[in-house]
Amino acid sequence: MKTTPTIADEISDGLNNDQRTRVVEILTSVLSNQHVLYIKLRNFHWNLKGPRFHSLHEFFEQLYGGLEKAIDETAERIRMLGGVAPGSMEEFLEHASLKEAAGAITNGDDAISTLVTDQEAVIRDLREFAKETEEECEDQATGDFLVELLQQHVSDAWMLRSFRSEDES
Ligand SMILES: [Fe+2]
Repeated sequence: MKTTPTIADEISDGLNNDQRTRVVEILTSVLSNQHVLYIKLRNFHWNLKGPRFHSLHEFFEQLYGGLEKAIDETAERIRMLGGVAPGSMEEFLEHASLKEAAGAITNGDDAISTLVTDQEAVIRDLREFAKETEEECEDQATGDFLVELLQQHVSDAWMLRSFRSEDES
């Protein structure tokens, strides 16, 4: 008797179905948080006010530009594993752990503090996800991919902290 089809049915690359399903679940969570962070960065890029508008406006553009590339790579990795990449805001919000920024934040310090908090949450998640993907799911390729994302977020968080007003003296 044929059991319910699984995403592993057509791929024979050494991962079992449970491993593959879990890696896709992890990547779906990563992709969803990337979208929440992306929209938040655009919000701040557009709506910020004050004397630091120009530098923060450009810095946020640089950050969401980097995320655009990461988003595409994450979604395509889900497809490589045989999964389906979510493509709607409803799905992203369902799978994201980050919260959207309600309304427009126009103060630079508020924006930076929100983004540092989000980046640190993403960094903590990615550390756990990379470890689980390599050790339990035995998917070294996706593990490496997640470590690369982790490195970028660690760098982004450092840059963001340098924009905090108390660090300017
Ligand atoms: Fe712009």
